[in-house]
Amino acid sequence: MQFTLTEEQVLVQKTARDFAQAEVLPKAAEIDREHRHPAELVKRMAELGFLGMAIPEQWGGAGMDHVSYALAMEEISRACASTGVIMSVNNSLACDPIHRFGTDAQKQTWLVPLATGKKLGCFALSEPEAGSDSAAQRTTATRDGSEWVISGIKNWITNGPVADVAVLFAMTDRTLGNRGITAFILPMDHKGVRCGPPDDKLGIRGSKSCQIFLDDVRLPADHLLGEPGVGFKVAMSTLDGGRIGIAAQAVGIARAALEDSLGYAQTRKTFGKPIAQHQAIQFKLADMATEIEAARLLTWRAAWLKDQKLPFNKEAAMAKLFASDIANKAAREAIQVFGGNGYVTEYPVERHFRDAKITEIYEGTSEIQRLVIANALAKGL
Ligand code: CAA
Repeated sequence: MQFTLTEEQVLVQKTARDFAQAEVLPKAAEIDREHRHPAELVKRMAELGFLGMAIPEQWGGAGMDHVSYALAMEEISRACASTGVIMSVNNSLACDPIHRFGTDAQKQTWLVPLATGKKLGCFALSEPEAGSDSAAQRTTATRDGSEWVISGIKNWITNGPVADVAVLFAMTDRTLGNRGITAFILPMDHKGVRCGPPDDKLGIRGSKSCQIFLDDVRLPADHLLGEPGVGFKVAMSTLDGGRIGIAAQAVGIARAALEDSLGYAQTRKTFGKPIAQHQAIQFKLADMATEIEAARLLTWRAAWLKDQKLPFNKEAAMAKLFASDIANKAAREAIQVFGGNGYVTEYPVERHFRDAKITEIYEGTSEIQRLVIANALAKGL
């Protein structure tokens, strides 16, 4: 067993930490307050190779492993969870499925610009009536000569308002249930594609999401991603990887809650001494630190399994379930440590509290993670 990071992983972690502390953190409150897409930070992440981290260099990526991806996601999200999820969606939900299921021609056309950060991607699976039950797709794709004609509505599409490309899912045969779902690559400026207004959200307010309306969108056959009918497997296996990114994001948010609490507790005084010297506060800090360590180890293990090309579906679900839970707990406790100051926007912990919540919802709710884990257990995995 090896608990040390490789030299390359340590370098990625340091690069991500330096960038996050120097360039992302100073803007996090403003990005949240203004509901602003941080285009300049996305550009910097592209320069650092953070938008296609685990994609081979041949296809425009940084050629790193998924442990490095988790390390960078934690650092960026510790500074700004909005910036973290923009990065995670591009890496895990746009680049990854095109890399695994795309043809060489599709990789050249779509993956290279996404992995280099020249274009930004999104993942259009959820619908108004298909969130957790993603097999209940209503968007349809019908073959018409050499084209597919696609109509429907997608919901809560992270990066949607700012994306250039979507990995899109639609029903090509309603009679087949999940085996009738097919994946496509959709240029967002294609005729018939329209974004609704950005969602007005509780947290991760710098991360733009929206509905996408598809009105008789005619896609050439070479925009089909993988075989017809395997779209559900494309989506599910993509989300397995995505959950590692969200677990790392949750660890980052939890760490922000802990580090801010520790700093505050060492200076804020009550009853004649810093509150960090009161056992009530010490116990909170100790629990946060312990749970962060456990969540990080689960996340790294899932990432390591993916790197070894071993099954990681259950482990990714466990990492996301646990990390999102402790992120919410840490953010709640951080507000308690800050007291009245924790409840006002002058201090950062109310933002961590609002940002943490989404990690229990997107890329599969905590309830869905439990289903995934239980299904794996039932199969003896
Ligand atoms: N990898 C590959 N194949 C998989 C798979 C996986 N992880 N999970 C299931 N499958 C396959 C199964 O083997 C099965 O194949 P066959 O039909 O050939 O036997 C098929 O898919 C159907 O499997 P299930 O019967 O288990 O499917 P289900 O309909 O019961 O759903 C579920 C399972 C786990 C509940 C799934 O629907 C799910 O994960 N739901 C949550 C969806 C989700 O995470 N949405 C997030 C939206 S994206 C997002 O949030 C992005 C963002 O904003 C940041």
